[in-house]
Amino acid sequence: MTIQWFPGHMTRAKRQIEEKLKLIDVVFELLDARIPQSSRNPMVDEITSSKPRLVLLNKADLADPKQTAEWSDYFRSKGLATHTIDANAGTGVKDLANKAKELLQEKIQRQIDKGMKPRPVRALIVGIPNVGKSTLINRLAGRNIAITGDRPGVTKGQQWIRFGGELELLDTPGILWPKFDDPIAGFRLAATGAIKEDVIHIDEVACFVLKVLVENYGPALKERYGLEGLPSELPDMQAAIEVLESIGKRRGCIVSGGHVDYDKTATLLLRDLRSGKLGRMTLESPEA
Ligand code: G4P
Repeated sequence: MTIQWFPGHMTRAKRQIEEKLKLIDVVFELLDARIPQSSRNPMVDEITSSKPRLVLLNKADLADPKQTAEWSDYFRSKGLATHTIDANAGTGVKDLANKAKELLQEKIQRQIDKGMKPRPVRALIVGIPNVGKSTLINRLAGRNIAITGDRPGVTKGQQWIRFGGELELLDTPGILWPKFDDPIAGFRLAATGAIKEDVIHIDEVACFVLKVLVENYGPALKERYGLEGLPSELPDMQAAIEVLESIGKRRGCIVSGGHVDYDKTATLLLRDLRSGKLGRMTLESPEA
């Protein structure tokens, strides 16, 4: 889903989520495990502060497992519960009810002490576009349902999706805007496909990606494209262009006159990265 975010849209998105929060017990904040910080909405802490929250590191199948563990520790150190999932394959999804119940332990215990039977935990998924909200809702629903995030009359006509006997999920996720004002976050979002390439030029995104990959995943890059003499870091844009050129030559991305087709090479590199063909990679670390 492509959304143009203007100040009016942001205000409306915030208001819609605040309305939905009245209906639920717990927020599932969905992040892309490859870019956990850059895929966070800058105001999510403030917007969801009235409810307990579980940070879900999604697309873990594409992320570097070591980095995912570090990110989980990082969020925990900030007082946020985390859980790692792959909404596509369903890995980790069946634990969601228990994770949510852990967050609501005291409330549930109070209900039990009063002799009440605890009702299913009600949850809302929030996140920026492309983090996997619809995929997770469909996975929990066990079928494909049309996900519409931005309906008028917010809380009207919404359905609860039942997952087992213990979890109920609103069928409309809270869609939040990504970080716009941080250029590096913009490159990371573009690299994963969360921002379309008409916003940032694909060659620039590819050069950014190459810099990160050379520094952190050099052997995988070398092996995938049969590169020789790859440096251990790329000090500037020119150095990144040279690596892109080598990949283009190796992959036959050549235009008439024998020159490398940079756009085609960049597209190939990003496709390989996004599909996991380069291996499981994370584009930002908590220390940074
Ligand atoms: P959204 O509602 O938050 O906007 O995201 P959506 O579920 O549409 O998911 C965006 C893309 O991410 C989809 O790919 C989806 O299959 C993929 N995806 C979601 N969760 C996971 C996961 O855990 N692992 C992997 N590998 N992929 C996941 P797509 O249909 O190809 O869309 P696009 O990438 O072409 O936009």
